[in-house]
Amino acid sequence: MTVEIRPCKDKEELADYGRIVSYVFASTEGMDEELASTQPDWTTCGFVDGKMAATMGAWPFTVRLNGAPVPMGGVTAVGTLPHYRRRGLLRGIMTEGLATMRERGQPIAILWASMGAIYQRFGYGLAAESVTYSFDPRFAQLQRHVELPGTVEMLGVEEALPVIKPLYIEYATPRNLMIHRAMPLWQQGALKPRKKGEPVYVAVYRDEYGHPRGYITYWTYEERPTGPGGEQVLEVRDFVALDLEAYQGLWEFIRRHDLAWKVVMRNVLPADDIAPDLLLEPRMLSKQVGDAIWMRIVDAERALAARPYSVRGELRIAIDEDDMCPWNNGTFVLTSDGQTAMVERDENAADIVVTPNGLATLLSGRRSATELARTGRLAGASEKALRLADAMFATAHAPFCPDGF
Ligand SMILES: CC(C)(COP(=O)(O)OP(=O)(O)OC[C@H]1O[C@@H](n2cnc3c(N)ncnc32)[C@H](O)[C@@H]1OP(=O)(O)O)[C@@H](O)C(=O)NCCC(=O)NCCS
Repeated sequence: MTVEIRPCKDKEELADYGRIVSYVFASTEGMDEELASTQPDWTTCGFVDGKMAATMGAWPFTVRLNGAPVPMGGVTAVGTLPHYRRRGLLRGIMTEGLATMRERGQPIAILWASMGAIYQRFGYGLAAESVTYSFDPRFAQLQRHVELPGTVEMLGVEEALPVIKPLYIEYATPRNLMIHRAMPLWQQGALKPRKKGEPVYVAVYRDEYGHPRGYITYWTYEERPTGPGGEQVLEVRDFVALDLEAYQGLWEFIRRHDLAWKVVMRNVLPADDIAPDLLLEPRMLSKQVGDAIWMRIVDAERALAARPYSVRGELRIAIDEDDMCPWNNGTFVLTSDGQTAMVERDENAADIVVTPNGLATLLSGRRSATELARTGRLAGASEKALRLADAMFATAHAPFCPDGF
């Protein structure tokens, strides 16, 4: 058996890649669109005796990381045909794929996992959680009723796009893990119809001066309720509000769908979303939290330097046993002026020692150094070192990525 790990050469091989991915995920839905927006050299595939047997893609994203734009590989389409599984193909592909990302100046890889178990062994750490709300709009009133000076306007997708794109950009810019959306991401996410040919609705909140301050995209569809009520579901697909007024305006707009017995919001609002603090009865949201983005630090030196920090400080960080990205092993001194950072290799004793998975979780801001120390993924030389790491790595916003890929 000869194994070769390399990208697809051309569109024909990309078609084989599409067939494997469709088989592995038991779905052909959206594959033509996905292949049309995938370049052959974004893939890393495993060939056994000349035949393609396993696939991986890495989309060249730019992602906000605590407010800064960082190039990241968006890992997707990971699959091995069943008769080639458990022979190390994915391990080979992942090793090669991470080395390629490093060469391309993508210091971080991110992905949505079918199972976290697949990726933790490759040094991925949980970087963002997803929040799902499911509620009866009649029982989701805000604690304080305020008369809002603005208005909500419904727009068709075509006319909405020039209005909502700048709103998304303004919302995403200071945030953490939101992707710079190219058109395929809009089309496959926020603006994707539920079924081909069905509508996607857009509602924009404008302030009293007529300036757009937020929007939602959403579907409505028929579904019988479990109890009394209307027979519709309203599913929000994207929710952007630049201020509290726009948030409240959009929330009240959603609640005016009197025939909806259920509103569903799946990963459209972040873990630090304000709805639980605004509602009269937060329990009505039936909030559920799940794992969302897994992150791999591909190039520690560049990844550490790419992120803005929250306070001034100097911290020596040792990375422990990174087998897949051995260039990450060693100690780095991170010096920040409270915003930008400088990173250099260092020989002195470390203030914190962190595993590859732990580093990803720390850098994303999902967990503090102290919290990671409780799980054994990080060790601090002293309490003081842990406190400094907590303060430096804190982020202004909880990590949140509303886009699937
Ligand atoms: C996940 C998948 C790509 C693994 O492919 P593979 O070529 O068999 O993987 P490898 O042989 O390289 O195994 C890599 C390691 O992961 C482990 N592993 C593989 N699948 C696993 C799973 N489902 N759960 C837990 N561990 C798993 C293997 O034991 C192996 O560990 P080791 O290297 O420490 O021995 C393959 O099982 C698959 O296509 N699954 C269905 C699609 C899927 O879930 N893709 C991921 C989408 S996010």
